[in-house]
Amino acid sequence: MSSEAVFVPSEAVVSRTHVTAEQYGAQYARSVSDPDGFWGEQARRIDWIKPFTKVKNTSFEWPDISIKWFEDGALNVAANCIDRHLATRGDQTAIIFEPDDPKAEARHITYRQLHDEVCRFANVLKGLGVKKGHRVTIYMPMIPETAYAMLACARIGAIHSVVFGGFSPDALAGRINDCDSAVVITADEGRRGGKSVPLKTNVDVALEDCPGVEKVLVIRNTGGPIAMKGSRDVWWHEAAAGVDPVCDPEPMNAEDPLFILYTSGSTGKPKGVLHTTGGYLVYVSLTHELTFDYRDGEIYWCTADVGWVTGHSYILYGPLANGATTLMFEGVPSYPDAGRFWEVVDKHKVNIFYTAPTAIRALMGAGDQFVERADLSSLRLLGSVGEPINPEAWLWYHRKVGRERCVVIDTWWQTETGGFMISPLPGAIPTKPGSATKPFFGVQPAVLDPESGKVLEGEASGVLAIADSWPGQMRTIWGDHQRFKETYFQQYKGFYFTGDGCRRDEDGYYWITGRVDDVLNVSGHRLGTAEVESALVAHPKVSEAAVVGFPHEIKGQGIYCYVTLMADEPASDELAAELRNWVRKEIGPIASPDCIQFAPGLPKTRSGKIMRRILRKVAENDYGSLGDTSTLADPAVVDDLIANRKNR
Ligand code: WTA
Repeated sequence: MSSEAVFVPSEAVVSRTHVTAEQYGAQYARSVSDPDGFWGEQARRIDWIKPFTKVKNTSFEWPDISIKWFEDGALNVAANCIDRHLATRGDQTAIIFEPDDPKAEARHITYRQLHDEVCRFANVLKGLGVKKGHRVTIYMPMIPETAYAMLACARIGAIHSVVFGGFSPDALAGRINDCDSAVVITADEGRRGGKSVPLKTNVDVALEDCPGVEKVLVIRNTGGPIAMKGSRDVWWHEAAAGVDPVCDPEPMNAEDPLFILYTSGSTGKPKGVLHTTGGYLVYVSLTHELTFDYRDGEIYWCTADVGWVTGHSYILYGPLANGATTLMFEGVPSYPDAGRFWEVVDKHKVNIFYTAPTAIRALMGAGDQFVERADLSSLRLLGSVGEPINPEAWLWYHRKVGRERCVVIDTWWQTETGGFMISPLPGAIPTKPGSATKPFFGVQPAVLDPESGKVLEGEASGVLAIADSWPGQMRTIWGDHQRFKETYFQQYKGFYFTGDGCRRDEDGYYWITGRVDDVLNVSGHRLGTAEVESALVAHPKVSEAAVVGFPHEIKGQGIYCYVTLMADEPASDELAAELRNWVRKEIGPIASPDCIQFAPGLPKTRSGKIMRRILRKVAENDYGSLGDTSTLADPAVVDDLIANRKNR
């Protein structure tokens, strides 16, 4: 082992683990040498309506990219997440709902209640004309009804597209139109950190640009005032009154779509990542059980929002497929103060806690008194996701939250991968702060030379690619299979390209270094620089914009915008504030620029390409290594950029 701090699994962890170090080695080897055998066995963990006879049928060979798992099997995801647990754990809590307001009462929803709610929800959707294969957009706060809505779609074979409740009406409209949803599910308002979020009002604005939407199903959540529009808008509680409480699950082919989830890429508009039914469920259920070393009866809490893939895979589908008790939290870590997470852990005796480095850093910055006043003795395992976790934050998490007793696991994965790809298995793999460690079963990481694409062996730095398919992999981009192929498979032939940079150390541990493309990771939220740029240039006073990331203490990355104004348009602090608000309005608060620098010119090559490398260096305040600027059309532009750099 190398000289970095290494945390070896304790006796207590090893004695209860699903997978020991020896088993990991042997099973990993089998998972890649005999994927049909390995995954064929693992897939029996879920219930099939019609058993599959084929396991893996996949090709990464350009240009014939095709991914199918268990392709002749049939199943229903909602039945797996609910119905099959009824006989053994009908009265067990499936979902604990912890509201934003700490004084409001928490709710405990049993598997039986979940079954009834989802069946009624499914029948309401059917009543609105939703059928198998239709797309339903869900724009909701973190409340149990969101889980009911998603599972109801799965039950009847509709494809859900959850749009994070923090996105603007414009962003919502684009996502509704891209997948032609005729039905939108929303709530009157959401509540976060004591403030209300005008979800229904945002939907009303979005729908001005969505001619295809026929019905809006509205859940009464806060009771705040909203407008209901004639025959289009339907109150859930009215539609649900007297609805049939029985709804048989629709048999779905393993490769039928389960959901679309939009995520940012380096170019163009967000991509509708498509996940299907069988492989996805097998993968999220197995990864949830093994990576969290989950055992029956444990209380599990993932703090993500269901609007992101982490919420899909590890608040909902993975845990419920395993019959777990999963906690849904409506609020934010800092409300009413920076002790809220720890109060919730103590209140509900949470055993497994899963959050993002940005939250850990923010809470670390708030002072140790908040975490120290909590008991936290129920905790057994701590997880991290969304961005690289710096060793300092990892160690604080381990010491202050885990009291040096809990395992810390850093899980690397993506919307595209469906589930964990590189992560410790708690009883099998010693951890190193800052490293996601080793691949999960069936995952074959490769470190490639970014220029030549050559596979690098041993200790190496390069870009991270995956050599073969795994069941949870996305199948396509909704409506644009060509873009799917080009985005992920064209640059490095024979591999799935992750877009991340990575180092493999002498022990074969993987250290993810962040995106190597034009995707930002701001507080664990993915954002394309192109999206922010197109929002900026949509402003009438802006002629051109270039956006880059810079290291940010809490957010991981901040958003730095270089803006060229229209001729004769004077720059001012007011205009910078106006542009900041403009971007928030166009995309949503998560895209709020940290810095706006007005620049009369941007560094371009003679062929007109913006040299982002230089813009990144200026934003990072790192002028020593600007590199070769001789190819610039006008090298003087750089001096101006440096002279007018914004201090953050
Ligand atoms: C980054 C979130 C380092 C990475 C599940 C990836 C991470 C992108 C980690 C995907 C981690 C996620 N360590 N980086 N543990 N987890 N990332 O699609 O850059 O929202 O490509 O999925 O987040 O973000 P996405």
